[in-house]
Amino acid sequence: MVRMRRMRTTPALRDMVREHEVRLSDLIYPVFVTAASDRRVSIGSMPGIDQIPLAQLGEEIDRIAEAGVKAILLFGIPAKKDEAGSGAYDPDGVVPQAIRLAKARRPELVVIADVCLCEYTSHGHCGLVERGRILNDETLPLLAKAALAYAAAGADIVAPSDMMDGRVAAIRSALDANGFTGVSIMSYAAKFASGYYGPFRDAAGSAPQFGDRRTYQMDPANGREALREVAADLDEGADFIIAKPALAYLDVMAETVRSFNVPVVAYNVSGEYAMVKSAAANGWLDERRIVLENLLAMKRAGARMIITYHALDAARWLRGEAV
Ligand code: PBG
Ligand code: ZN
Repeated sequence: MVRMRRMRTTPALRDMVREHEVRLSDLIYPVFVTAASDRRVSIGSMPGIDQIPLAQLGEEIDRIAEAGVKAILLFGIPAKKDEAGSGAYDPDGVVPQAIRLAKARRPELVVIADVCLCEYTSHGHCGLVERGRILNDETLPLLAKAALAYAAAGADIVAPSDMMDGRVAAIRSALDANGFTGVSIMSYAAKFASGYYGPFRDAAGSAPQFGDRRTYQMDPANGREALREVAADLDEGADFIIAKPALAYLDVMAETVRSFNVPVVAYNVSGEYAMVKSAAANGWLDERRIVLENLLAMKRAGARMIITYHALDAARWLRGEAV
């Protein structure tokens, strides 16, 4: 008789047959750096996550490195916003400063810089706006300029999250033309217009002031279309692909991994984090168990790496330390 339980008899046997695991080097920790405050600013909907002022970034980088996390994803909150999001491509803006600080403090840390306009625009959209419409081609040079500023500051990877068509090609050619052939592009290719980004918009102050993002981010109903998005970004020169959100879209992750020979990154987004944190705070779920189970599910679906706000806690759990 087939007895599946034979392989589950002891912890050692279960360890031997385990198909997937979450590794420390899978984890990427998002960091919100602010030029608008000189204190840490806590984010109500994301317990445990703060906006970090530049003056305290060094300590935060130490805390991250000491937890064993090897990569960060930087988001910037500028001192002031404008129509054109000029803070995003200011060579001395908050993100270039943060990159230089992080690289000076821990040169071995992988520094990924998110590239978008929405944290920097007064209207909160990811592109330029004209008469209520989000412009595509006019936005591309600004995204390329931002990517160049981050590359020049020392970023290892730039990660465009705007969902304008053609941005990967625009960024790749700007990087190459300026000698940054070694800087990679991690493209948010399969990015859905999702209610799960709510807490992030509190954290980054990037909620759209009118309308929504449905003319540029994907319709949650479309799985097959995600593969076209991924194919286009790879064709334009993306080195890594991000699929997001993670949990409600693991089918998209699995399909993407099956279809393309490229590292695919899961983004375990802010709303997913908020749901786990709030249930855990009520004692309704075991946080450690749920977080590790969720991360494992992303690995099982085929994610190579995971961007997660749980990274520091998960790193300590993986190392077997109490948090
Ligand atoms: C901005 C951006 C967003 C996220 C990453 N980059 C929000 C959005 O598109 O509104 C979401 C991340 C999260 O929810 O954790 N382009
Ligand atoms: Zn954006």
